[in-house]
Amino acid sequence: MTPQTHKITVVVPKTSLDPNPIIHEATVSAPTNIACIKYWGKANSQYNTPINSSLSVSLDQTDLRAVTTASASSSFDRDRLWLNGIEVLDASTSKRFRACVDGVRALATDKVVVDPATGAKCVVVTKDEWSGMHVHIASYNTFPTAAGLASSAAGYAALVAALVRLFGAEESYPGEFTAIARQGSGSACRSLHGGFVAWRAGGKKSDWSDSIAEQVADELHWEEVRAVILVVSDAKKETSSTDGMSDSVATSELLAFRAREVVPKRMNIIEEAIKAKDFESFGKVTMMDSNQFHATCLDTYPPIFYMNDVSRSVVQMIHMYNAWAGEIRAAYTFDAGPNAVLYTLDKHVVELLALVLKYYPAQSEDLVGDYVSNLALAQKALEF
Ligand code: DP6
Repeated sequence: MTPQTHKITVVVPKTSLDPNPIIHEATVSAPTNIACIKYWGKANSQYNTPINSSLSVSLDQTDLRAVTTASASSSFDRDRLWLNGIEVLDASTSKRFRACVDGVRALATDKVVVDPATGAKCVVVTKDEWSGMHVHIASYNTFPTAAGLASSAAGYAALVAALVRLFGAEESYPGEFTAIARQGSGSACRSLHGGFVAWRAGGKKSDWSDSIAEQVADELHWEEVRAVILVVSDAKKETSSTDGMSDSVATSELLAFRAREVVPKRMNIIEEAIKAKDFESFGKVTMMDSNQFHATCLDTYPPIFYMNDVSRSVVQMIHMYNAWAGEIRAAYTFDAGPNAVLYTLDKHVVELLALVLKYYPAQSEDLVGDYVSNLALAQKALEF
């Protein structure tokens, strides 16, 4: 056959079988956080906004984080999510997941690369092209399996942060990314910042764009603060936070009083305490707020019991310790489960661990880590 002289154009369509699809990806991690002033109760369930402001500490250690890789490609045929290596099959239709993916993607910007040789800028993905791409999300918790900590705060914060990086997203108002993360899980908005973080309830704006998280003080401001986690049980909680708070809003008069009268004052007290590094005031308001949160659970009808007998014995132990010391050296707080988080200062950690070992001898071995060499000494010093 003789070669033809007329020109043809060969088109090879990109399909999912394309051996070299272009995949854009970004990996980000986010910390878990533990609230000192608790969020409990939704003002608006569509926007997932709270009836009261809250304040938390981000636990910045590498072993208490969610690490998330978000990737996008025109070769992906649907949005998919894997948690700790296992695919979550109904993820793409979940309202919470959709709010985060669609919310961040709507803020995408053109992806631009700069040629290092010439300095010339080239748009490799336009804003509109991002909106036509599906995402694959892979997320891992670095929490020790027995930590008994909720992972949704760190998980949704890492999801939003990874998508922001992937799409080069830009906020149209300050705090918008935290407003997107709260639609994944309320407490997640606080995990987008390190240090001490307040979630302002908002509600003055009709679209709830004022319900955002902001940093009160960064992680370097009060570095002496430590969190000790006492795992009372690593079983999954019986009543989820979402269901529990909806029952409390419907039935607890104490909750409405708390949101209106108590929490605004406590937010001021704790923010002042953090600024002044006043552990006495920080610890007292933290314990009182944990107690009131669990009182609203008891005031819910039917009542919700998150703390158990062991949790209550931890409360007693901490009050005994502080009475012995003549000052507040440790403060407990409990979320929607029986596990205790104890806040203390670095100079009291050994003493506090010695106390835990004394009262819970069989269970505490895993807790003591690097502090073990000083424990015998500290245990001797503790006489009640
Ligand atoms: C007791 O943030 O898990 O830990 O918004 O429904 O996902 P949803 O709830 P979630 O509730 C956390 C409740 C809490 C208190 C707190 O972290 O402030």
